[in-house]
Amino acid sequence: ETAEKGGFDHFMLKEIYEQPKAIRDTLAGRIKDGLVDLSQEVGLTAESAKQINKIHFVACGTAYHAGLVGKTVLEQLTRIPVEIDVASEYRYRNPIIDEHTLVVVVSQSGETADTLAALREAKKHGARVLAITNVVGSSVSREADDVIVTWAGPEIAVASTKAYTSQLIAIYLLGMYMAQLLETSVVASIGNLLDELQSLPEKTEEVLGQADKIAEFTKSIVHHEHLFFLGRGMDYAVALEGSLKLKEISYIHSEAYAAGELKHGTLALIEEGIPVISLATQHAVFEKMVSNIQEVKARGAHVLGLASEGDTELLKSVDEVMYIPTIHDLFAPVLAVVPLQLLAYYACVERGYDVDKPRNLAKSVTVE
Ligand code: G6P
Repeated sequence: ETAEKGGFDHFMLKEIYEQPKAIRDTLAGRIKDGLVDLSQEVGLTAESAKQINKIHFVACGTAYHAGLVGKTVLEQLTRIPVEIDVASEYRYRNPIIDEHTLVVVVSQSGETADTLAALREAKKHGARVLAITNVVGSSVSREADDVIVTWAGPEIAVASTKAYTSQLIAIYLLGMYMAQLLETSVVASIGNLLDELQSLPEKTEEVLGQADKIAEFTKSIVHHEHLFFLGRGMDYAVALEGSLKLKEISYIHSEAYAAGELKHGTLALIEEGIPVISLATQHAVFEKMVSNIQEVKARGAHVLGLASEGDTELLKSVDEVMYIPTIHDLFAPVLAVVPLQLLAYYACVERGYDVDKPRNLAKSVTVE
């Protein structure tokens, strides 16, 4: 096992560090002549793509959080309305599905019972099902109409990291490929988007280079039993994933909130010294985030901010700040999640828990 960990103390840390490679491998061979080419794996044509009038994301756990990012990504790129559900809700809620629905199931293992059941429900109602999975030959991949494989390699740690970022990459590729088929307005800037997408492996490495700083950050959260994550837009989706990561391995209770919702209840829980991890990577809502941060600061919160390089305005309002390299807002989730994965990892180590095998949890939930 020590050899398999390749010099890292835990599989989770190894897998966090494998993300630049997982992203590179998931992109490999799928960009040709300045365009996304998924023609080998996705059977959609310009004609059949134009028949799709809604998209449903269905998944569980971390894969569901990838879908939350996917909702924004696919809506922005395709202008088709997107819904998202956890699989255990979707399968029992009699969703409105027909042959004009594209159902995207996201599953690292491809064996999650609820996700598989949701896939079957979708197929029964005539939907086209596209699977994003990390396991070639898995049940989900065998039953779906189209499969985009994430080339993250085997993920051993229960807490998913490199599978999540690879799922995001698959979603970006899908969104751009569909945009090309549908000839939406983003096609005009596809070259620029692809440059940004392809800069992710290197920029992820830059974020990993700040691991020591994140380990340092961890000290201000590790003795707390409750904390909050805040974000707007896709930062909110990333906040949910950061919060899940922290809960599942460090057992610190945390809640992720859409920052604009604070004043509708959660603000009552903000008191002196409580850590609030505030994501502010989305430029369209940056000013709004800064004012949310000021709201919690005014009530004594200890704020750890995450922003893009150059957005130094955040420094004025937070206690500690970490920067991710500048990137198009659409792709920021890939970079923003990495510090949160590391934060959860260091918090778990500091508290002395089992990183790779958290209590009560399984890597793949194949029974209901
Ligand atoms: C379990 C794992 C999670 C994972 C979820 C969905 O709960 O512990 O890490 O996100 O299942 O798994 P899947 O294989 O469908 O992505």
